[in-house]
Amino acid sequence: MGTPQVIVVGSYNQDYAWRIDRAPQAGETRRGEDFRSAAGGKGFNQAVACARQGVATVFIAALGDDAAGRTARELATADGIDARWLLRSDAATGSACIVVETGGQNRIIVALGANECLDVRFVQAQADAFATAHVLLAQLENNIEATRAALALARSHRLVRVLNPAPVHAQLDAALLADVDILTPNETEFALLLARLCAVDVDPDQLAAQDDARLHALARRLGVGTLVITLGAHGCFVSHADENRRGDALACYRLAAAPAKVIDTTGAGDAFSGALAAGLVRFAGQPFRVVIEHANRCAALATEGRGAASAMADYASVIARFGETRDH
Ligand code: RIB
Repeated sequence: MGTPQVIVVGSYNQDYAWRIDRAPQAGETRRGEDFRSAAGGKGFNQAVACARQGVATVFIAALGDDAAGRTARELATADGIDARWLLRSDAATGSACIVVETGGQNRIIVALGANECLDVRFVQAQADAFATAHVLLAQLENNIEATRAALALARSHRLVRVLNPAPVHAQLDAALLADVDILTPNETEFALLLARLCAVDVDPDQLAAQDDARLHALARRLGVGTLVITLGAHGCFVSHADENRRGDALACYRLAAAPAKVIDTTGAGDAFSGALAAGLVRFAGQPFRVVIEHANRCAALATEGRGAASAMADYASVIARFGETRDH
């Protein structure tokens, strides 16, 4: 497994996914096309995406003492992840109901179960990993105090702290964001954060159409050093604070999505955040743009497979499909 380079603190969910022409309306029952149960959870998906880029990954998470939890442990081992599991006998492993419509769009309901029981002391007991790693990556499918503890520990060990604010947590506040170096919201999460923390109302569906200067000004309102707003089929938008552009020439720019034959978008955002964390290690010393271009390619490939964790591409497949990711 090697010396830890990236730590992911997050969730594991057993995903129950249905494919259907369109999601049912209220009061409607519809026949699905097929059903699968597979590994998911934003944390686990991101840990798998990161590890498959050839970067030594530690995953800190909580599981129930049940069949889904046993599957999680086997899968983490198969992917070479150094998993630090908190096993709970009083909660079930997290689960997710996912409806994937023709065209790949998804809708998700999560029952977080054991993920909510990940506690501060268990995170702090993994200090050995924080002592050698370079990057911490977290999301918001856990008890938020555990996430705060992870960010604080990462600060004390001078790790780059990446937060994928998904799903936006009711207790997410400015103090938590102040402990983040790189934030990766999608359009909906970005709009929610602006409304909650800055009392600014924006229509998430109109964000991709905004000009770069306006998006940059909105991004700066959140006070995080670097924001990467993922815009689905429209790619992503990067906004840096002027004090630290992470090696980029520009304070803000947009990157188009990499081409893909989309089957299922579940986990595409996780592929992006996991590959971004890995890229901060793999492409250390290169402009941030290289990291983002690689993450974009990983996200595109993740949409071409069914499911979440299982659809994450490895480094060799990304290079085989798109060539080396370089500064240009
Ligand atoms: O981002 C996709 C993930 O969200 C799914 O795997 C599901 O478990 C939910 O956490």
